[in-house]
Amino acid sequence: MTTNKPWGGRFSGETNAFVESFTASVHFDSRLGVVDARCSKAHAKTLLESGVLSQSEYDAIVEGLEKIITRIEADDFPWDPSLEDVHMNIEAKLIESIGEPGRKLHTARSRNDQVASAFKLFLLESGDDLRASLVELQTALLEQAADHAHTIMPGFTHLQNAQPITFGHHLMAWFEMFDRDVSRLVDWQRRTNVSPMGSAALAGTSYPIDRSVFQKAMGFDGISRNSLDGVSDRDYAIELVGVLSTIMMHLSRCCEEVILWNTPAFGFITLPDELCTGSSIMPQKKNPDVAELVRGKTGRVIGHLNGLLMLMKGQPLAYNRDNQEDKEATFDALDTTSQCIKAMTLLVTGMSPNTERMLELAAQGHPTATDLADWLVRHGVPFRSAHEISGKAVAIADQRHVELHQLSLTDLKELSDVFEESVFDCLTLEGSVAARNHPGGTAPDTVAVAVKAAQERLRT
Ligand code: ARG
Repeated sequence: MTTNKPWGGRFSGETNAFVESFTASVHFDSRLGVVDARCSKAHAKTLLESGVLSQSEYDAIVEGLEKIITRIEADDFPWDPSLEDVHMNIEAKLIESIGEPGRKLHTARSRNDQVASAFKLFLLESGDDLRASLVELQTALLEQAADHAHTIMPGFTHLQNAQPITFGHHLMAWFEMFDRDVSRLVDWQRRTNVSPMGSAALAGTSYPIDRSVFQKAMGFDGISRNSLDGVSDRDYAIELVGVLSTIMMHLSRCCEEVILWNTPAFGFITLPDELCTGSSIMPQKKNPDVAELVRGKTGRVIGHLNGLLMLMKGQPLAYNRDNQEDKEATFDALDTTSQCIKAMTLLVTGMSPNTERMLELAAQGHPTATDLADWLVRHGVPFRSAHEISGKAVAIADQRHVELHQLSLTDLKELSDVFEESVFDCLTLEGSVAARNHPGGTAPDTVAVAVKAAQERLRT
């Protein structure tokens, strides 16, 4: 054999140097090293139980793989790009260290089911880490929300002052977005947790293996039902990056608000120095770059989702080398998203709301006009008429450059003789938020209850 490649038998010439580096993936898939070696241990168990390996061969393989795992974990494994990928590197090293039994390990498997299994397991474990970091972010949100269940701020539609809300209620809206993301990850994990091992190259294997040995050893819930699909399916990467894209879209929306709130024009929050950076020319600047970067990186993750969909859309069954392109995109999407969740957690914990400024802005633009209409409805006026009367009151207040609650009862009585002194109670910001005390509403007491219930759910 003139080549060091494990597949070199039918080749008589060396691989072109450019082709060798063009096809190599070990510089990124070595990240699967530990999980791939663990998979190999589980596969050796399958081979032992089906009589391909003797007990002593099995023991030698397991011992050899454990040494390899230790070296990979210590960052001391000599990855060799001429051995293409993580799988051939590990197999070659095993053979080098234990000799003949190592040459039996690749019985009844292919790199095609090997890579599908290792990649899936790596992603499933990353999904656990991601869920844990989302829960940390949610915990930070609950802390701020509990502290600010009573803090009034303007609520917006069309980015125009709409109705007063509480800051705690706003943060709990963020909480809900991330709650759905956690449940999306749980759904994804359930669907993904199926072992492709045993699919071999594409058609299955002629050895009498029990696929459940590997499945159970690696903690999969079941085995794939079709070998062609087992090796060619990359839905699990696409779905995960889809979930990551949604998480990033949520983070980006939150960051957009952080950026707006932090501008002097809004002045709703102050970010600590440690989370901001300055300008090299304008000495006065303190910029919310962390939030801006999260917003910017969102495009990158969504781009990876597009990339993966394009990667798969033209591939005939079963495995094609195109699939090797799935890893860099998925790894980068994972790394980027987990960094951004961390950044958001720091922002949520670090921001301090300027409650007076929020209150001042919440009062502008007649935000209790709906409450005025609702009061009329409660006193027998049909909503459409009430809406019109309240609109007229807004127009008068605008003409006089005052807020609704600064109109007199006489002014209001000219619009409808139903009005009484008690209407002024519902025109205050406090009255407006307190009135919305149904489940899901912005009333301070309701928000406090929502925070408690969420804390309870996170604990279970
Ligand atoms: N490194 C490849 C990948 O990531 C697995 C190798 C499969 N190669 C092959 N010639 N069948 O997809």
